[in-house]
Amino acid sequence: MEVRDLTKVFDNSVVAVRGVSFGVEKGSFFTLLGPSGSGKSTILRMIGGLERPSKGRVFIGGKDVTRLPPYERDTSMVFQGLALFPHLTVSGNIGFGLRMRKVPKDVIAKRVEEALDLVALPHKRYGERRINQISGGERQRVALARALVTEPQVLLLDEPFGALDLKLRKQMQVETKKLQRTLGITFVFVTHDQEEALTMSNIIGVINRGRIEQMGDSHEIYERPATKFVAGFIGEANIIRANVAELRTGNALMKHDRLEIVAPAEGLSVGEELFLSVRPEKVRVGSAADGCANRFEGTIVDEVYVGLSSKVTIQLDLGGRLISRVSIADIGQSIPIGSHVAVGWDPGNAIIIRPPSETVASRLGKSPSVPMRSSL
Ligand SMILES: Nc1ncnc2c1ncn2[C@@H]1O[C@H](COP(=O)(O)OP(=O)(O)O)[C@@H](O)[C@H]1O
Ligand SMILES: [Mg+2]
Repeated sequence: MEVRDLTKVFDNSVVAVRGVSFGVEKGSFFTLLGPSGSGKSTILRMIGGLERPSKGRVFIGGKDVTRLPPYERDTSMVFQGLALFPHLTVSGNIGFGLRMRKVPKDVIAKRVEEALDLVALPHKRYGERRINQISGGERQRVALARALVTEPQVLLLDEPFGALDLKLRKQMQVETKKLQRTLGITFVFVTHDQEEALTMSNIIGVINRGRIEQMGDSHEIYERPATKFVAGFIGEANIIRANVAELRTGNALMKHDRLEIVAPAEGLSVGEELFLSVRPEKVRVGSAADGCANRFEGTIVDEVYVGLSSKVTIQLDLGGRLISRVSIADIGQSIPIGSHVAVGWDPGNAIIIRPPSETVASRLGKSPSVPMRSSL
């Protein structure tokens, strides 16, 4: 499927989606990842035909479906909050779309059974139960079965696991991913949860304020964020605004207030303003920082345990704060708050992000078709 220059303006004033273009290869798992209100559901609803684009086109299987109603599109939607019919049984819910399409009764019965099999709910036990007689996780499966029973080319899923507790959510993530692989159909999945996106998807589109700021696989998006927003939204990052003060062989000397920072030069020019993103796990503390080309001193002002590692905040003597994730195994013990320590990172561990993000977005808006695997 593909969308080109998709735009949605509500009430002549709210621009929810701004010229979004992307393509999803058949059989791949694509995720739109972004914060609440960024336009994810609106894009999904335009793909499914539930919302009319203000501008732009939607293609499915090479065919322009922009003007077709939902039931003529070969798409199916799992809604946020599921939207199951409480007065119908499990079988009644799953067969609903087929009844609307006037499929013969015996065929419906057979396909409902097959759909229940797909989501591992035995028909005998569950078929005649009402929606309020099954658990949250089982409702999730029913919603999935209801969407799959019409055998869509493209399945659209809008934050489907939002209401589940963490353990169940993880389980549904694994099972849904497995189902997608087995069926080989295209999934367009929407979530605000970066971990969910990183673990499930082949390709992720990171969306901010109605624009896709980067397309790429999990690795690219985490290791090479294209914009400041992406760097801050995916995982944690120390984002430092810096100015290129001097170029040396292979390296650049940058300044941020009183900090002097060495970073890879990568075609920079003197005077350029940019951002450096350094992941907390790359920031070393204590004696581990001694060999780093960027080495500063500071005071630990906060510490939070996160499983086997500890997240510490360091107030630098020269100004500014850094977050470091230190493995307890590496340092042997926790470092008490108030300790004065060395802190540093290797230049190669900083990601350079060149503003403005507007350049990236407008380039994206203008391009007729976006290459699928590259960061933009
Ligand atoms: N029917 C509507 N009328 C007016 N504004 C809407 C409507 N639907 C969504 N919006 C607005 O569009 C923006 C994007 O919404 P949405 O696509 O639901 O975001 P997300 O799914 O990423 O949370 C928000 O500012 C939201 O308030
Ligand atoms: Mg939404």
